[in-house]
Amino acid sequence: MAITGGIIKIAGPAVIARGMTGARMYDIVRVGKERLIGEIIRLDGDTAFIQVYEDTSGLYVGEPVESTSLPLAVELGPGLLFGIYDGIQRPLKDIRQQKGDFIERGATAVALDRDKRWAFRPTVKVGDEVGPGDVIGEVQEFGFLHRIMVPPDAARVPVKEIRGGEFGVTDVVGRLEDGRELRLMHTWPVRFARPLARRLEPREPLVTGQRIIDVLFPVAQGGTASIPGPFGSGKTVMQQTLAKWADADVIVYVGCGERGNEMTHVLDEFPELEDPRTGRKLMERTVIIANTSNMPVAAREASVYTGITMAEYWRDQGYKVALMADSTSRWAEAMREISSRLEEMPAEEGYPPYLSSRLAAFYERAGRGVCRGQPERRGSITVIGAVSPPGGDLSEPVTQATLRITGTFWSLDASLAHRRHFPAIHWLRSYSLYMSLFDRWYRENLPADYEQLRDRALALLQQEAELQEIVQLVGPDALQDDQRLVIEAGKMLREDFLQQSAFGDDAFSPFPKSYGILKAILAFYDEGSAALKRGMLMDDLLNLPAIEQVARLKDVPKEQFEAHITEFFRQLPQAFAVQPASAGS
Ligand SMILES: Nc1ncnc2c1ncn2[C@@H]1O[C@H](COP(=O)(O)OP(=O)(O)OP(=O)(O)O)[C@@H](O)[C@H]1O
Ligand SMILES: [Mg+2]
Repeated sequence: MAITGGIIKIAGPAVIARGMTGARMYDIVRVGKERLIGEIIRLDGDTAFIQVYEDTSGLYVGEPVESTSLPLAVELGPGLLFGIYDGIQRPLKDIRQQKGDFIERGATAVALDRDKRWAFRPTVKVGDEVGPGDVIGEVQEFGFLHRIMVPPDAARVPVKEIRGGEFGVTDVVGRLEDGRELRLMHTWPVRFARPLARRLEPREPLVTGQRIIDVLFPVAQGGTASIPGPFGSGKTVMQQTLAKWADADVIVYVGCGERGNEMTHVLDEFPELEDPRTGRKLMERTVIIANTSNMPVAAREASVYTGITMAEYWRDQGYKVALMADSTSRWAEAMREISSRLEEMPAEEGYPPYLSSRLAAFYERAGRGVCRGQPERRGSITVIGAVSPPGGDLSEPVTQATLRITGTFWSLDASLAHRRHFPAIHWLRSYSLYMSLFDRWYRENLPADYEQLRDRALALLQQEAELQEIVQLVGPDALQDDQRLVIEAGKMLREDFLQQSAFGDDAFSPFPKSYGILKAILAFYDEGSAALKRGMLMDDLLNLPAIEQVARLKDVPKEQFEAHITEFFRQLPQAFAVQPASAGS
């Protein structure tokens, strides 16, 4: 029997209804005469506290609320890629041409195209016993093998029928002995993590081609990273750069509460972006979830769950997934708004007391593991969340809660962005907790001195910062020559290594290139130190063409880099061999 109650209170996106006996937490409800979509987020006796995913204007006390007795779920199957959805997975056909409410209120748009046919190739046969997560067949989706799996909550049963051919996502492609039907798609409730057979410790870095990330503050495949940064410091550009270049098979991009025009930019730009690895469209391996600041706030609350559930679905197929959430602060603000409308007791800065546990639960859905079912697969989800602390104040609750959970912290700095030092990740305030997990990967993939070079670079940057403080206080004349050399090396590290344009040929710096530049700067420093000891004058040293040569290294085309840097190292000792007298003016 249908569970139907009546509205007793409406407060913005929150509605309270009485008479909801039998309703459960997280049930989807239809609210009012327009049957707006809502979700029960608290229950107290027969009183349900509901967040409504649509604009509630025009709703009245006394109107009915009906429970569907189903949780908020997403559709998972072929056709997700290239998709652009709102926070509860309704397709945004053409966001730019629509205003205000992007989707007609009360509309139940289906997420996956029902008309599209997919060529299904079964990989199991009649009589095979299949259980949760087992792959029963494949569908080609763009350059991508989409593995069709038995839903992870099912039991082990033999296959009764199965057939290949052209099917729509809801067509029955097979049956199990217990009568259950097999289809290309299934649904999964977004508030519940999809299970893995076993979690694995992250052991490999997510290679991003961004020097400051890969070398100084790497994130693990299956790890978590946060990008806190004030207004305009480059959070969105960083998320997009990572979407484009990071070593992930599938990208889930959650645009969460950003300004409409900024998201329009993403929606305009993404479909045009070329996938640097395939030369095809980046969208062929991307799903976008967009909930801009002018869209209903409750759908924004749901959007990160919608996104992470989709990410889990590809992880379960055995792929490496990267999820970008821009910005988790706007998500937290959505939680705060709904909580305050429901008159919950606020904690710090008005955020609900469950802020940090919600953030933690979200980031915990990242990870690497062995997927459920046969054949054996391993997948990962790396979560990269932007944080927008008001006024850049990192002590505010969302940043602090995020900092306690995430393994990598890329702190964007307003003054660096202002000086157009991009990416504006501050090298003294950022960190990665993953480095020690990668020892083996580094040994197998990088030159033996790599870790030593990296540690020396960080130490030099630290030293340079300290010396800069002295310069600020007493001027540059107070420094010894060896200290001036530290300043010069620090400057080279900042300008020639850490700075990297997101837009030119240098947008992706492969490890050999990053390593080469790093080694060149440190070699310059070492040769310089030795030359100073031999009596070379600092002013002569600063005029050496090698400085300019190092500066140009990042613009050397990738194909020529190897030869170029070999030649650089061959000539370097000679450059310093010049006698002080003949090197003068
Ligand atoms: N890596 C980069 N290379 C070159 N330019 C960059 C880079 N990162 C950011 N910028 C410049 O900074 C501008 C602002 O960046 P972005 O929009 O990413 O900031 P944001 O932190 O997302 O801002 P908001 O707080 O408004 O969301 C960009 O339009 C671009 O001009
Ligand atoms: Mg932004």
